[in-house]
Amino acid sequence: MDQKEQIVFDVLYGRRSIRHYQDNRAVEHEKIVTLLQAAMAAPSACNIQPWEFIVVTDEETVSQIKGSIERWGDYNAPLIIVVCSYPALIPWGSDGVIDCSAAIENILIAATAMGLGSVWIGGFHPPSIRRILNIPEDVVPQGLVYLGYPAEQPAPRTQYLEELVH
Ligand SMILES: Cc1cc2nc3c(=O)[nH]c(=O)nc-3n(C[C@H](O)[C@H](O)[C@H](O)COP(=O)(O)O)c2cc1C
Repeated sequence: MDQKEQIVFDVLYGRRSIRHYQDNRAVEHEKIVTLLQAAMAAPSACNIQPWEFIVVTDEETVSQIKGSIERWGDYNAPLIIVVCSYPALIPWGSDGVIDCSAAIENILIAATAMGLGSVWIGGFHPPSIRRILNIPEDVVPQGLVYLGYPAEQPAPRTQYLEELVH
């Protein structure tokens, strides 16, 4: 593997879900913009880009969102990016979840490359997120990404299993 490949695979395998973050350390504005640029570089069916991003840094709103998640969401991340789809743009009736998932993965990978920790939160209650963030009816929250500076460092890894390959 050459050096460039090694860098890419270090980031891919180094991306792990982070559930403990450094206290009192916000993510800088320029880094948030870089994360969003990475998100919007994701592949998208027919390049429709049916996504919208809500960046939540306000402490009170961040804690309301965490409080609305029943399980597996009570982590001390200072930043939440809510990735939403805008299905009205998609002529074949999909809800845009696949495009949003690609965007989310790009955020996670970019965060790792930038020394940030992240975790994809799928176990949220959409009506609560809608209410807290005043999201219009035609915009659909598809996933949350918690971000911040990591206070833990899970080991890099693949979970390659030959028996899953056919
Ligand atoms: C669609 C999706 C939803 C997830 N939802 C949650 C969640 O609600 N809470 C959480 O702590 N982790 C969540 N995760 C993270 C997974 O638990 C995690 O990716 C998995 O355990 C593998 O660990 P790794 O990310 O460190 O490789 C989610 C991951 C995906 C892809």
